[in-house]
Amino acid sequence: MKHTKIVDVLQSDQRSQSVTIKGWVRSFRNDRFIAVNDGSTIHTIQCVIADGIVSETTQQQITVGASVHIKGILVESEGKGQRVEIQVSELTVEGLSDPEELKRTILSPKRHSLEKLREQAHLRIRTNTFGAIMRVRSKLSFAVHQYFQKNDFYYVHTPIITGSDAEGAGESFKVTNLALNDIPKTEENTVDHSKDFFGRETNLTVSGQLEGETYAMGLGSIYTFGPTFRAENSNTSRHLSEFWMIEPEVAFNDLDDNMDLAEDFIKYVVQYALDNCADDLEFLEHRLQQEDKQKPQAERAEMSLRDKLSFIVDNNFKRVSYTEAIDILKNSKPNKKKKFKYIIEEWGADLQSEHERYLVEKHFKCPVILFDYPAKIKAFYMRLNEDGKTVRAMDILFPGIGEIVGGSQREERLDVLKEKMAALDIPEEELWWYLDTRRFGTCTHSGFGLGFERLVLFVTGMSNIRDVIPYPRTPMNAEF
Ligand code: 4AD
Ligand code: MG
Repeated sequence: MKHTKIVDVLQSDQRSQSVTIKGWVRSFRNDRFIAVNDGSTIHTIQCVIADGIVSETTQQQITVGASVHIKGILVESEGKGQRVEIQVSELTVEGLSDPEELKRTILSPKRHSLEKLREQAHLRIRTNTFGAIMRVRSKLSFAVHQYFQKNDFYYVHTPIITGSDAEGAGESFKVTNLALNDIPKTEENTVDHSKDFFGRETNLTVSGQLEGETYAMGLGSIYTFGPTFRAENSNTSRHLSEFWMIEPEVAFNDLDDNMDLAEDFIKYVVQYALDNCADDLEFLEHRLQQEDKQKPQAERAEMSLRDKLSFIVDNNFKRVSYTEAIDILKNSKPNKKKKFKYIIEEWGADLQSEHERYLVEKHFKCPVILFDYPAKIKAFYMRLNEDGKTVRAMDILFPGIGEIVGGSQREERLDVLKEKMAALDIPEEELWWYLDTRRFGTCTHSGFGLGFERLVLFVTGMSNIRDVIPYPRTPMNAEF
């Protein structure tokens, strides 16, 4: 039997027409009013059963969580809260949902904490909050592709299994099919990877950048959008061990072009969400307002969710050099009063998230792009400035999030790149292919990485990154 999505039924102007919907029962009141949701919208549709329409047996099977097929006539609703409702003419229950068993799940009709919902991540998608988040997530990922495709970027699938550790941070997950209880050893008693599946050491990618760069050197403008993996032991509300990253890379772009691209891109996708996720954002905004009511006045948000998103679209991001930022931080109240966990003493210090958030939330009160970082605290591939101590790096810092983007202009000069690699003990043999791009027609180029979950976190106004990806992977947690 063909059926119509509830989102379309709710928008339909055709009264007195027969419609069929399929979905899950959210509530059943007075043996008469069923609220059904099918995931197509945050809203439920009210279905009204007149006396004698369904059998006693069926009536008893209409319980929270059950899946139903409902055929009926679409009419103006007399009740509050909805424009239209369905007068049921036929109802079948496809999948039962035992109310007794349901009690142990988060589908039981009472308030459950987000922590509790995480433990039942397989069921949380049936709640309003997760329906809204995951619809927004899907729309945002479409907007990402739309932005780059409209601007003539090519989508490149960089490898998931790789031999390179792009960020040089050594925080990768090893990939092997060696028997872990019988690992072949070399004469030096190290693991003999020549006997491994790929005949060499491999890991899950931490970034598609290096391979992305090689493709930008032929296609001009490319982007990647794929999963990345980091074995860093960071148990924070901003870190995942498996997250999705978007990495554009553009030949002949310098750092200013790179900042322009990142700012334009972020504004585009945020505007896309405002235009295409109105109902879900309204729901999430309301949810935040309810949450705020529990907090002391000083901790409450200054702007509503949608105002915050519009603010991002309508205002320029503030561009500030690392050196200026350090001066601001050194002279800041929390630094002088030793309120920061890490006190900023001198130029060269790595910025912690407390510093980034101070700059964005307290000092500038808008998104900030920090650029020209000390070479010492950034990756080997970033272009060295004339001063010999800073590199053409840029990070974008967002309110409530901290770093959302990390990028740079790349070192295109073969000799300088080799020197930097040598200084960091990165063997040339490992990156011979990367160095080739600097040997044959090297050129100015830049790119950045945006953590997709941090974007979704910002747009949905949620506070924990574990709540914006279906099945979060974090240290000591890989259930489902
Ligand atoms: O700053 P990162 O480490 O930069 C790179 O990986 C570069 N290769 C990108 C490039 O230039 N092509 O990571 C980029 C972004 C961060 O700004 C952050 O938004 C996100 O990826 N990110 C994480 N998101 C969730 N969990 C983690 N553990 C993350 N680590 C980085
Ligand atoms: Mg970074």
